[in-house]
Amino acid sequence: MNRYLSFLCLVAAGAFAANAETISIAELGFGDMMQGYGQPQRDHSVDKAKLSVGGEQFEHGLGTHAESSMQIDLHGTADRFTAKVGVDGEVHERGSVEFIMVADGKEVWRSGVMKGKQPAKAVDVSLKDVKQLDLEVTDAGDGIDFDHADWCDAKIEFHAQKPSTTPGAVQKEEYIRLTPPTPREPRINGAQITGVRPGHPFLFKIAASGEKPIQFAASGLPDGLHLDENSGIISGTVSARGEHVASLRAKNSLGTARGELKIVVGDKIALTPPMGWNSWNCFAAAVTADRVKSAADAMVKSGLIDHGWQYINIDDFWECHRDSKDPTLQGPHRDADGKILTNPRFKDMKGLVDYIHGLGLKAGLYSSPGPWTCGGCVASFDHEELDAAQYAEWGFDYLKYDWCSYNPSLESKRTRPVDFSPMKKFESAGKPKGLLDQIRPYVVMRSALNHQNRDILFSFCQYGMGNVWEWGEEAGGNCWRTTGDITDTWGSMAGIGFGQNGHEKFAGPGHWNDPDMLVVGKVGWGNLHPTKLTPSEQYTHISLWCLLSSALLIGCDMTQLDDFTLGLLENDEVIAVNQDPLGRPAGRISQNGSVEVWARDLADGSKAVGLFNRGRKASEVKVSWTELGLTGKHSVRDLWRQRDIGDSSDGYAAEVARHGVVLIRVK
Ligand code: GAL
Repeated sequence: MNRYLSFLCLVAAGAFAANAETISIAELGFGDMMQGYGQPQRDHSVDKAKLSVGGEQFEHGLGTHAESSMQIDLHGTADRFTAKVGVDGEVHERGSVEFIMVADGKEVWRSGVMKGKQPAKAVDVSLKDVKQLDLEVTDAGDGIDFDHADWCDAKIEFHAQKPSTTPGAVQKEEYIRLTPPTPREPRINGAQITGVRPGHPFLFKIAASGEKPIQFAASGLPDGLHLDENSGIISGTVSARGEHVASLRAKNSLGTARGELKIVVGDKIALTPPMGWNSWNCFAAAVTADRVKSAADAMVKSGLIDHGWQYINIDDFWECHRDSKDPTLQGPHRDADGKILTNPRFKDMKGLVDYIHGLGLKAGLYSSPGPWTCGGCVASFDHEELDAAQYAEWGFDYLKYDWCSYNPSLESKRTRPVDFSPMKKFESAGKPKGLLDQIRPYVVMRSALNHQNRDILFSFCQYGMGNVWEWGEEAGGNCWRTTGDITDTWGSMAGIGFGQNGHEKFAGPGHWNDPDMLVVGKVGWGNLHPTKLTPSEQYTHISLWCLLSSALLIGCDMTQLDDFTLGLLENDEVIAVNQDPLGRPAGRISQNGSVEVWARDLADGSKAVGLFNRGRKASEVKVSWTELGLTGKHSVRDLWRQRDIGDSSDGYAAEVARHGVVLIRVK
């Protein structure tokens, strides 16, 4: 190059450098940035510490948590993105994430899986002509636990318009209710089979939608049961074992609906997954008797009771607290005989339960096998018999039993004999001591519940430890949590939901997997906000939980249900998948990149199929009849829209929204 030319180049470079500016992505504002846990932090990690990756410290950058997504408008005037990325040192060797950059819909850089303690990886990507940049962090496919992800020294060079953050997917997606309005003509919905033990109180409200008043009739009820024709509540006790198929009728001024209910008087309850509401995801430590009563009222007023929703469950914080300063949580823990006492918020537990039953609903309660619950309230250790007796005396129908503060080496002074026969089976099957220690507290409480004169559905809440699905039924569980606590983010919900594959083998009538409660509507663990899941993500959530035969427990404030949320919860064809009497949950039948298909058999010989798209962009998802084990021509029905799509002799394909689903029934 001659001297003159080099001079010109220097001038040009100087002119360009003079115009170029640099901005840190953490200065752009986080607007609608989505992340799986906590809040995005400027110049700090998600836990608000100094940014540090693989021992290297950084002054500037963005601390986030998988799964996260930040969308930046570059206006086509950016030049370059540079950063060093990795898992923040605050989680030590834990956590595993993947950083991905997407420019105008095309992936332009991917870090590969990065784990805790690994050195930071440098990124240097040209942004020439790019209009939109997406910075994503995934959980690398193994759930979001400890996924503290740092975009360190992350900068954009630009030469004209300053980059800005665009509103995220939450704002962009419309809230479209797919469920058709509930018809004014009567319809009988909900479970078609229910179990009760001989001699135990029976309570079942016929779920019937349509204009009120509705008059009910039933024939073929076993001796001992009585139907209230105005409320549709069937109650009483049956002493003899046996199966009875009752014919049901619901009639209003516009017509008559007919249905059947199979009543199985035997050893099993929970013949379909429990459906109801639980106080935790909305109120957490702020639950009160009034709030529970309002939830029960709202279950009726909203009409959800007419679609099969049944339980009103009180989670932690009905008991007195170990050391809270809040006077409404203080008081004597137990009476002189050791009977558990409620905190001052629940002055009349029996009255509350009677009220719930009077509406045709069932009531649930929470405790833990240790001395203290997870929230630090009084729990059941060494008082299992007394507690079970008290729950029965109050009239509870459901017990969620946690794990917190349980320690196998605590010495118990139990007087009443516990039925340890299930433990013996586990011992002779050669289960290791550590696992036996995890199983024992559930066998102890099961035995205490068995001594009561009523059916109490037993729900284990030990987050899936020791592969609970493999022994939960034998230990006497009617359902068991398979995971840690859910939150209302895509990372949490999808990580849990799609992580259930393989568990389907262990669930069936009487014993169900529970991937935790629903996070639609207004949730917030004491600090209510609309769920952060996008509309498509909410359809995915409900569709997946129904396909999985999961326990369905609404987690939102029942008094603030909007029409979109109601649409998610009152679609009888979708609920019918969850409540199908065959009770055979779905598993994954195919996966291709970020699209997957889950399917299950239904009692009438048809199949329920979920076509899911976990990807960032809309995508086609296909299922062939061969994959479903079918040949010949079959009809396809869209369950959310309750609309027939047509017949096909080879399969079905649909365009599925980002993080969305198409749920079909193939007949
Ligand atoms: C957790 C449980 C939550 C809630 C909470 C109450 O362990 O997973 O669902 O019950 O305890 O403290």
